[in-house]
Amino acid sequence: MMIPREVLTKIDAGRQRAVDELAELLRIPSVSTDPHHTADVRRAAEWTVERLKRLGFQTTLHETSRHPVIYGELLRDPDLPTLLIYGHYDVQPPDPLDEWVSPPFSPTMRDGFIYARGATDNKGQFFTYLKALEALLLVEGRLPLNVKALIEGEEEIGSPSLRSFSESHGDDLRADAVAISDGSQFASGIPAITYGLRGLSYFQVDIQGPRFDLHSGSFGGVVANPVQVLADMLARLKRPDGTVAIPGFYDDVLELERWERKEMAALPFDEAQLKNYLGVEVLVGEAGYTPIERKCARPTLDVNGIWGGFSGEGAKTVIPAKAGAKVSMRLVPRQRAATIDRLFEEFIRAQAPPGVKVRVTSIHGNDPALIARDEPGVQAAARAIEIGFGRRPVFIREGGSIPIVTLFKDLLGYRNILLLGWGSPDDGAHSPNERFSLEDFYRGIRSAAALLYELPEALGR
Ligand code: BES
Ligand code: ZN
Repeated sequence: MMIPREVLTKIDAGRQRAVDELAELLRIPSVSTDPHHTADVRRAAEWTVERLKRLGFQTTLHETSRHPVIYGELLRDPDLPTLLIYGHYDVQPPDPLDEWVSPPFSPTMRDGFIYARGATDNKGQFFTYLKALEALLLVEGRLPLNVKALIEGEEEIGSPSLRSFSESHGDDLRADAVAISDGSQFASGIPAITYGLRGLSYFQVDIQGPRFDLHSGSFGGVVANPVQVLADMLARLKRPDGTVAIPGFYDDVLELERWERKEMAALPFDEAQLKNYLGVEVLVGEAGYTPIERKCARPTLDVNGIWGGFSGEGAKTVIPAKAGAKVSMRLVPRQRAATIDRLFEEFIRAQAPPGVKVRVTSIHGNDPALIARDEPGVQAAARAIEIGFGRRPVFIREGGSIPIVTLFKDLLGYRNILLLGWGSPDDGAHSPNERFSLEDFYRGIRSAAALLYELPEALGR
């Protein structure tokens, strides 16, 4: 079914109001990892529930041990197919604060973008579906299929509650397709459908040396220095050529096939533009693979943060008592987070020198995913994107992770998993000055609406 003109017109007429409403949600600092923001996270959930209710959804806020899961349904007819919309209303911490041109939770319009933490990841993107549904309902009074919504508040901390939620609410989550807009186009104006995501294995490493900080003159020479020990251990995780040195790390890696490498090479990738955006002179990484391959189809290891000792003004002669680091690994298909967790822990423990205590704590992990591209729902999504963006999408793999995707695929058996990023890679997700292009926001609403019309036939049963 083609989307009626009137629905697109309705969307266009409601542009400014859509932005104003999105700004309301962006004003709520729903930082899921920070206990100081627990009440704010709940406010964002309540705001979203209110919006769903206004559309006619039967909605409940399910409590978890941390942040609530929103489940809602707007069912029309059991004989029609069902689409589940997944998104997350939580955001990453906004720091470093002094790098924001306008404050992270005071949404501000500049040059056709809305700037705020969560603008693209993921408030601005999941909200497109609510605006699409609203326009459709205003014009038609009823939906062409059944719609369910699952909007969570723990995506940015690894979705710890969703597994048990999906076990106890398996029936609710039953659907013929799931739409997730929590990634990006290949580049602004080149829309994409994502068929691969990397997995993640995330650790904290703590080193404890002497009981307290020591005078480095009186005691230097007789104690192990935790910062030095940590630096040595971290340095041994990677080889100078950029590969990961943990034994067995690459054992299960699914190698890229020739067709896929060819397809990736044909994407309109501009290396100079990427370097310019990043402010670096060269791109680095594993030899033998192109930047696109390294960014989305090869595993990596990165130190996310490191601390210990004195970092104030001037000099303090001290041997710190402790040091720590956060280390994460991005995983690719066939690697398993559980296996990599074990290899990492063993490697770190084997490196621990005498004179310090080493603690290795797994923070979270999820498996990588590859998604079928030839399912009818995916083809319907390609048509919908063509309507919304005026251009057919390319197929890409993304380097990021969306933990629920493996759950949808492996546990719930979904085949039509539609990863439709409306954002752009330079939106600055997780960075200061995160933004979302208003044009992409409107294109997203149009595509989401077109999808609602394309799916019933594609999924017809
Ligand atoms: N929206 C991202 C996932 C993403 C990033 C998809 C880039 C495609 C391209 C999501 O909100 C996210 O940041 N996920 C985390 C998951 C982690 C906390 C388990 C990530 O990838 O770091
Ligand atoms: Zn994110």
